[in-house]
Amino acid sequence: MFKKNSIKLIKFYNLINHNLIYNNKAINRYRRDNFELTEDKVKNLDLLKKSIQNLKNCDLKKNAKNIVFCDGNPKSKIMLVGEAPGANEDEEGLPFVGRAGQLLDKMLSAIDLNRNKVYISNIINFRPPDNRRPTDNEIKRYLPFISKHIEIIQPKILVLLGSTAMNALIGNEINISKMRGKWIEKKFGSFKTSVIITFHPAFLMRQPAQKKMAWIDLKMIRDKKTKLKI
Ligand code: URA
Repeated sequence: MFKKNSIKLIKFYNLINHNLIYNNKAINRYRRDNFELTEDKVKNLDLLKKSIQNLKNCDLKKNAKNIVFCDGNPKSKIMLVGEAPGANEDEEGLPFVGRAGQLLDKMLSAIDLNRNKVYISNIINFRPPDNRRPTDNEIKRYLPFISKHIEIIQPKILVLLGSTAMNALIGNEINISKMRGKWIEKKFGSFKTSVIITFHPAFLMRQPAQKKMAWIDLKMIRDKKTKLKI
């Protein structure tokens, strides 16, 4: 078992919030876990959620049952961003729990990912009535929040699901068919990440012929994950 000095060292590392993985090999025994969830991250996510909950004069918020902030693992280096919650998401307070979410889960599992291995959010955190597309003004209002959210999570891979997420975070004048399946470098605050755009699962349910293109994108994500040793 652990010697007294090792226990002291572990306590010290815990104190300074330096995550450790115990490894039996003498060399590298106290390797730094690069998937750390720092106190800062928890605090910043909490502050961000509170500032969205405290939004004033927001009709989306007034009409919604619940805030839909995130799902998945905040330590993940892969973040997915969708459009806005639908009825099921509003009910449960979690993103992608309806039919589109079931397809998303299948897409993730095709490249050996699941909700514990990724982090998921949306451009808009409250359900637009009748599942309508969020307006430009609504997107403008929520954009600083999702940008900050990305900055806090610091994903190495950012997956934008569908044209609303793409238009909001990359640019309005572009077409998803031309932009999907490419890696783009993008800065959020001072943090830079690799972004890929792919079709939204709800769109794929309406246009199943496009699933073959989404599969190309998924394989690109899988390859990037391997390359970045995520
Ligand atoms: N569609 C989205 O874009 N986000 C959700 O959370 C659910 C459906």
